[in-house]
Amino acid sequence: MFTRINITGKVYWIGVNDRKKHLFENIWPLPDGVAYNSYIIVDEKTAIVDTIESFGAGTSYLHRIEQHLEGRPLNYLIINHMELDHSGEVKTIIEKYPDVKIIGNSTTFKILAAYFGITENLLNTSEIGDTLDLGYHKLKFVMTPWIHWPETMMTYDTTDNILFSADAFGSFGTLDGGIFDDEINFEAYYEDNMRRYFSNIVGKYCNMTQKALKKLDGVPVNYICSTHGPVWRKNPEKVIELYDKWSCYEAESGVAIMYASMYGNTEAMADYIARRIAEEGIKEIRIFDVSKTHISYLISEIWKYKAVILGSCAYNGEMYPLMEQFCREMEHMSVKNKLLGLFGSYSWSGGGVKNLLKFAENIGWEQVADAIEVYGIPTDEKYTQCDALAKAMAGKLK
Ligand SMILES: Cc1cc2nc3c(=O)[nH]c(=O)nc-3n(C[C@H](O)[C@H](O)[C@H](O)COP(=O)(O)O)c2cc1C
Ligand SMILES: [Fe+2]
Ligand SMILES: [Fe+2]
Repeated sequence: MFTRINITGKVYWIGVNDRKKHLFENIWPLPDGVAYNSYIIVDEKTAIVDTIESFGAGTSYLHRIEQHLEGRPLNYLIINHMELDHSGEVKTIIEKYPDVKIIGNSTTFKILAAYFGITENLLNTSEIGDTLDLGYHKLKFVMTPWIHWPETMMTYDTTDNILFSADAFGSFGTLDGGIFDDEINFEAYYEDNMRRYFSNIVGKYCNMTQKALKKLDGVPVNYICSTHGPVWRKNPEKVIELYDKWSCYEAESGVAIMYASMYGNTEAMADYIARRIAEEGIKEIRIFDVSKTHISYLISEIWKYKAVILGSCAYNGEMYPLMEQFCREMEHMSVKNKLLGLFGSYSWSGGGVKNLLKFAENIGWEQVADAIEVYGIPTDEKYTQCDALAKAMAGKLK
């Protein structure tokens, strides 16, 4: 039987779940899958807001569009974001509805031509005037570049205060029955998925997220329809608050200890420092081996906790390659506002801590104590330095 999932007014969810893909953007793990949300507005005029990734769900997606339209033409296809996880079915929609007008901005259309060779039936938002009148719903288009590509915009319905926000307010994780925020256990399943999505995908563009949030300031929003993850209708303020907090680098009072170790000396210090911090009364402490935990999760932990303690053994004159990859990513994302501690073991002429110190200088995080560099196995003297680091870090967090 055909189920309609009404958001409000004449707006319906027609998204799909992707449980096949292992890596989003071919890099970020998807143990819980991902949803590509698409929306159809069946008003006096009809419109689709964003499509889905082309991964084999296209036939059922098109079929659902037909069911909603009941023989009527599709008037508009609004492209908020051109990334392939949302533009994957643009071409099939145009083939099926050749008269559809595609709504986007100049940058959208450049990318649309480059990927699909589509150059006709385009309606630039700059030509639309104040609102696009669909009948009951009236749409405004707001540029929100770099969340997550330069062309990205949001569509806002002034009748029911619906924000079609593209990737902003999105999350990893499929929609398993529950689609709306009041139908799911957000804390149990989505919060970690959402922070990981935010940090991995949008984290580099925190300042642009802040700019977009400023544009939204004072605008009534009753529904948030992102392109990934739940639709917010009961408590949209919650997801706005989360994105605001994360894009300001506001984090919990806890410590993420991340280490690289081949023979256990650097690892031993990680455990020792963690124990000492716990003795100082800090409860939120997590230790990660960078060789085991995928960088996607390490990045997410950085957004979770205020304090970061990094340990690396030396490796061919450098820090350990996987730690180096992580540090490079932190610099590339220009993550701000962290408390930092450093440690590591070596047995030739070093390289691990030396390069972690260069990283610390480049990124500008507040180093709370001297770095602990150990020749071979840590001595009592070195463990005393670990005590000092733990005490200083706990002191800053309390
Ligand atoms: C492939 C390889 C490369 C290494 N490169 C360096 C190096 O450039 N400088 C150094 O001082 N030690 C180097 N070492 C020695 C390790 O850093 C040293 O054994 C250290 O104590 C290992 O710490 P861990 O027990 O935490 O793995 C290297 C060891 C290996 C196996
Ligand atoms: Fe995107
Ligand atoms: Fe996306």
